[in-house]
Amino acid sequence: MLLTTVFSALASYVYIAHAWKVFEVPHVDGQDDTPALAAALANFTADSTILFKKGVTYNIFTPITFPVFTNVEVRIEGNLTYPEDIPTVQAIVGSSSFSGQWFSFSGGTNVTLRGSTDPHWGWVDAHGQAWWDAMEQTNRPHGWAFKKITNGVIRDMKLWKPIAWSFSTSGSTNLHAFNNKIVAVSNSQGFPFNTLFPSRDADIVLILCLGFSAGGTNMLFENNWIQNGDDCITVGNGAKNIHFRNAYCEGGHGLSIGSLGKGGQVADVQNVLIENVVMKSSLYGARFKSWTGGQGLARNITWKDIAFIDVPFPIYITQNYWDQGVGPKPNGTGTLNNTHIQDITFKNFAGTIRDKPYVEGSCVTDPCWYDVPGATGREVAIFDLYPDTAVNVVAQNIVAKTQTGKPVSVMCDPATVENDVGFVCQNGRFVPTTAGLALPF
Ligand SMILES: *[C@@H]1O[C@H](CO)[C@@H](O)[C@H](O)[C@H]1NC(C)=O
Ligand SMILES: *[C@@H]1O[C@H](CO)[C@@H](O)[C@H](O)[C@H]1NC(C)=O
Ligand SMILES: *[C@@H]1O[C@H](CO)[C@@H](O)[C@H](O)[C@H]1NC(C)=O
Ligand SMILES: *[C@@H]1O[C@H](CO)[C@@H](O)[C@H](O)[C@H]1NC(C)=O
Ligand SMILES: *[C@@H]1O[C@H](CO)[C@@H](O)[C@H](O)[C@H]1NC(C)=O
Ligand SMILES: *[C@@H]1O[C@H](CO)[C@@H](O)[C@H](O)[C@H]1NC(C)=O
Repeated sequence: MLLTTVFSALASYVYIAHAWKVFEVPHVDGQDDTPALAAALANFTADSTILFKKGVTYNIFTPITFPVFTNVEVRIEGNLTYPEDIPTVQAIVGSSSFSGQWFSFSGGTNVTLRGSTDPHWGWVDAHGQAWWDAMEQTNRPHGWAFKKITNGVIRDMKLWKPIAWSFSTSGSTNLHAFNNKIVAVSNSQGFPFNTLFPSRDADIVLILCLGFSAGGTNMLFENNWIQNGDDCITVGNGAKNIHFRNAYCEGGHGLSIGSLGKGGQVADVQNVLIENVVMKSSLYGARFKSWTGGQGLARNITWKDIAFIDVPFPIYITQNYWDQGVGPKPNGTGTLNNTHIQDITFKNFAGTIRDKPYVEGSCVTDPCWYDVPGATGREVAIFDLYPDTAVNVVAQNIVAKTQTGKPVSVMCDPATVENDVGFVCQNGRFVPTTAGLALPF
């Protein structure tokens, strides 16, 4: 074993010595560093490191579109800064040539995006604070696209105040994303998290600071730290074999699947395991959402070993997601299709339900978009399902208390479920059943 390691280390050393190229990204004070990088990239599309040096703060004043790479590492050891001026960014985002992200990778094999473990360097600063303070939501750039990559790594990346969405991995396969840090925390109007009445101004701006948007196959996300204002992870249509584990998520909207089936889309999501996550002061814990009228199937999805602290909706599943702005909630599927779900498990959840009054920062309507008619606010689980389309949805080993000390409840319509869901399916007290207590920890 040791010998093998030594030999392979030697082999890669020899390989590097002969063929590997390193390109140090040039920097000029006060100028946009993107053009010089873009001009050189064609020479470094294979077997190369593209290095943003430690000790330098690079001006990424215009977006970077990386070419299709083979065996390339983009290494960010220096700081990177977006333009500080909002109109400059908006003009670029609004222009027809904008690719959609400030940094885009699209296509390639063996591509690594690597930040730094030095606490002072390797930060990508988008200056989101100014956008948040101005409540500016027009022409916001997405952060990083890491799309259609085969064998990708995103590690040690550190995003400081991203304006909005952080990483999107759609269409990639074999991705390992680990030790990344997304810090989208507002420092104005008081710290919005873990307060009973978060300041709306401070918090709303965090809406859509999405952490990881995972579409694609064979992805492992681990040891990531995400403080944000939207889903900590969202698993989108087409995702298969997604494993998200060992994470800290604060603020934000939960560990989400979907939304699926919007506009009649045929969903296909399979084999998702989300485990060992601390959810702190986020609106939802585990969350599944599919739109009425969608089609297809989401199956074999497990959330496991989830600690939740100060979370209003620890377990929430709806096959009946709809847009409040467009009209009333549809009554039932009727002639419409619906996204089917199968083998959905919530296992080993423990924590406190936020049942003291609050207004989540993203709430701009009355009632809020997350309002559940008839809910008491003390539900550890809400199963909003359609009949005949949900198979084997189970919650096991759920331990919860409310902040007020009032009894924990659930919402569930027995007409929509055929199996023992792990608690008495009713709108009322949380009473575990055989299936809910069956498994040891
Ligand atoms: C790319 O490589 C070619 C051939 O080696 C060289 O002539 C050219 O100057 C290089 N361009 C850059 C931007 O490094
Ligand atoms: C990608 O990396 C693997 C493992 O190092 C290697 O076997 C493979 O040849 C690489 N792929 C390409 C296209 O170079
Ligand atoms: C790098 O950027 C981060 C975020 O803006 C900042 O906190 C840090 O001080 C910067 N590092 C240096 C050495 O300037
Ligand atoms: C369900 O997903 C897990 C990964 O979370 C996988 O290990 C298992 O094989 C899948 N089971 C089926 C029946 O597909
Ligand atoms: C749902 O049903 C109720 C009562 O039958 C009706 O008043 C309401 O208009 C229906 N809503 C929709 C969106 O069809
Ligand atoms: C329901 O799904 C079937 C099969 O996928 C399709 O043929 C039909 O058009 C769909 N109906 C609606 C109302 O979308």
